[in-house]
Amino acid sequence: MTTIKYQLIPTDDELPREEKPLKWIVKICFLSVVLLILALYNRSLSGNLLDKTTPSEVSMDTSTVKTPLVSSSLSNILYDTSTLSTIKVTKITKRSTLSAATETNNWNTGSTDIPTEEITETQPEVSTERNIIHVANESTPETPYALETESGVKYFVNSPQCQMRYPDPFASNILKIYKKHSYIVCDKSRDMITVNFNETDSTYRLHMLEKCECCYKQILRAGVSTMADHQYKLRPCVKFQQDFLVPTNVTAMITYCRRPPYKKLSQTNAFSFVHPRKEPPRAPNPDKMPSVLLWGIDSISRMTLEMTMPQMFKYLSAQHWFELEGYNKMGDNTFPNLMAVLTGFNKTFAKAQCRPDKVGGLDACPLIWKDFKARGYTTAFAEDWSGYSTFDYLSKGFFRPPTDVYGRPLILAAEKELKMTHESGLPYCLGRKPSAEYIYDLGLQFTMVNRNSTFFGMFWTNTFSHNDFSMSSAMDARMVKYMRTLDKNGIMDNTIIVFFSDHGSRFGPLRKLDSGFVEERLPFIFIRVPLWIREKYPQFLHNLKLNRNRLTSPYDIHATLRHLLELNTPPEQLPRPEGCPTCHSVFLEVDWSRNCSQAGIEEHWCACEKFSTLSTMDARAKIMSTQLVEAINGFVAGKEGAEGCQQLKLDEISSVKQRGDTNLYKIHISAQPGNATFEATVQWDESAQRISIRVPSISRLDTYFGLSECSSVKETKKFCIC
Ligand SMILES: *[C@@H]1O[C@H](CO)[C@@H](O)[C@H](O)[C@H]1NC(C)=O
Ligand SMILES: *[C@@H]1O[C@H](CO)[C@@H](O)[C@H](O)[C@H]1NC(C)=O
Ligand SMILES: *[C@@H]1O[C@H](CO)[C@@H](O)[C@H](O)[C@H]1NC(C)=O
Ligand SMILES: *[C@@H]1O[C@H](CO)[C@@H](O)[C@H](O)[C@H]1NC(C)=O
Ligand SMILES: *[C@@H]1O[C@H](CO)[C@@H](O)[C@H](O)[C@H]1NC(C)=O
Ligand SMILES: *[C@@H]1O[C@H](CO)[C@@H](O)[C@H](O)[C@H]1NC(C)=O
Ligand SMILES: *[C@@H]1O[C@H](CO)[C@@H](O)[C@H](O)[C@H]1NC(C)=O
Repeated sequence: MTTIKYQLIPTDDELPREEKPLKWIVKICFLSVVLLILALYNRSLSGNLLDKTTPSEVSMDTSTVKTPLVSSSLSNILYDTSTLSTIKVTKITKRSTLSAATETNNWNTGSTDIPTEEITETQPEVSTERNIIHVANESTPETPYALETESGVKYFVNSPQCQMRYPDPFASNILKIYKKHSYIVCDKSRDMITVNFNETDSTYRLHMLEKCECCYKQILRAGVSTMADHQYKLRPCVKFQQDFLVPTNVTAMITYCRRPPYKKLSQTNAFSFVHPRKEPPRAPNPDKMPSVLLWGIDSISRMTLEMTMPQMFKYLSAQHWFELEGYNKMGDNTFPNLMAVLTGFNKTFAKAQCRPDKVGGLDACPLIWKDFKARGYTTAFAEDWSGYSTFDYLSKGFFRPPTDVYGRPLILAAEKELKMTHESGLPYCLGRKPSAEYIYDLGLQFTMVNRNSTFFGMFWTNTFSHNDFSMSSAMDARMVKYMRTLDKNGIMDNTIIVFFSDHGSRFGPLRKLDSGFVEERLPFIFIRVPLWIREKYPQFLHNLKLNRNRLTSPYDIHATLRHLLELNTPPEQLPRPEGCPTCHSVFLEVDWSRNCSQAGIEEHWCACEKFSTLSTMDARAKIMSTQLVEAINGFVAGKEGAEGCQQLKLDEISSVKQRGDTNLYKIHISAQPGNATFEATVQWDESAQRISIRVPSISRLDTYFGLSECSSVKETKKFCIC
């Protein structure tokens, strides 16, 4: 890793205080006992879970009820009794002949079904399975140290090795900067065209909803060499008739429609199509294997999810989703964290092995979907915001499509060909629907078409979360809808779904609060496990529940994905991530006394805290802060391409904190010009009166978006004021 001037190591930091009454615990305990009794009663009554249809029962397993894939009756669609009470039913009964997927979730243009976005809360939800668990196994106290102390301080993890504070996501200083959004309608005009999916043969037809003339341009991947992942091509516009059957070699298109008198273009849309794989299916694996779906939102912390996406949070609590509350990012931004998940490599090793700046570098990278592919899985990867996406931001991307289904050409074309509107500096709308929905809709198509075989899909979005934590509230209800659609389509019967983020808010107003330390470091993660795995491997489930309040990291998720490839391998023989040999599958119990280094988390990013405050008037504080700014200046000055960046001067020392009784300090300062704020972990050499620090251990807390355009060097951007 890059070393600044003095050389060194990293650490981490601290948090705020918050008081909350204990009453809810008592309530939950009581509720849990009642639910447990009900649930047991219910189980013994129904015996066969697959028979359940009546919504009045308390549900433990309803979400895995097998619904006929072509469903038309209400009871089939409203499979989930526990969330039923919170959802308005209006929309769901609308169409019945079409596929389940197109019914509740249009792969179309997404502009006409606004009413369902505001899900009204009518009744509190009842079934929270994980509460039941706590009471159910009284022989295993989850942790000897309570997650909430008598003084009301709450923790995600509380062990002698790691006290990870759980700040109140609804604290008044957060609410003050939070602006709730409702669903943003990109285009209020009605759809002229819709895509009808035939579930029986997985074909698509373009259906015109009014009298018009339309043609489509096929989108193709087109770049060569360095531009392979950055260019697309459009074929000439082909006129089509009503209910035109989309050819199987068309995976994405832009449609152009004109109303009479056909002079002016009336509407443009972009669509994706996932077709069944052409190769004959392989001989089935001797062991039954689950499909895998990684469904992610960039830059959302556990705290932020709870606050800005309350409907989704509630949905997750009531389903067979298992949370890892002590999930701590291992590196700064998206690339290292997603690479840890996908390759098990640390950032340096990932850069060396996968060389994102070289053409073909990423193609040679052992991304985990290749292992799934080798086992006969169909694979998919899609991400929005083409310029800033994980593998393409200042990188060469993939020379060849990395997966069977690859969303990038569609996004590149849609960003160019359709009207793009920005929210918080993000390309929120592409034409008539939000950018993110192109990704998630592709996810629905992909899972639907491949539902009878095994697949590995990753669907990642940035455009409603990256620059402004408040924006995610706009997608709250919609996200629940996506999940319910996956469920209704039967996808959850055989799919491990990981719903997660890579890190929290890394800069901006939320990050500047006291709680910003935890905010940045703790992304949310929930894992859904299908019934057959819960039944076949009860010990895995038991462990997964235990791990809820243990320290975990992206490397553990990598190990878990590897575990899914060989569920029957004895745990001690499972492969360990290269970047963290002490990490392992979360289906195995995580050591309660784990520390950050054992979880592969760099000290600077470790959210376990133990700090004492130094006066900012202290001589050491001043020396350390000055040297920190010098170090930053030194780092930037040495870089070709960063000449335009100004020298920074220390402005104010906000805080200096010592970690335990170590020589590691967390320094929070601001510098001029530009009011840039930094938080860094430095090592202090008392005798030499010198700090040493590694570049990755410096965080920039305010947004530098648009301020560092004069630098073409990625690593200098967060230090550069032009
Ligand atoms: C309860 O905890 C004990 C001790 O850890 C464990 O052996 C047992 O499997 C647990 N029972 C259930 C139902 O999870
Ligand atoms: C779907 O495809 C099947 C098989 O090709 C066909 O029999 C059926 O009529 C189609 N359904 C619709 C609604 O077009
Ligand atoms: C999947 O299996 C179901 C039930 O066996 C069947 O009705 C459906 O047509 C199949 N779908 C595909 C895409 O093969
Ligand atoms: C797609 O297939 C059609 C025939 O089914 C063919 O005419 C067309 O050229 C193909 N397009 C591409 C890009 O391969
Ligand atoms: C990253 O991983 C490689 C390969 O396992 C290892 O040699 C290297 O020391 C690690 N680097 C850091 C900073 O942990
Ligand atoms: C983490 O725990 C391991 C094993 O107990 C220990 O060797 C290591 O020093 C600890 N690391 C830190 C930073 O405390
Ligand atoms: C820096 O912050 C101060 C006080 O908060 C403010 O008055 C000033 O305008 C800011 N300067 C810049 C360049 O943002």
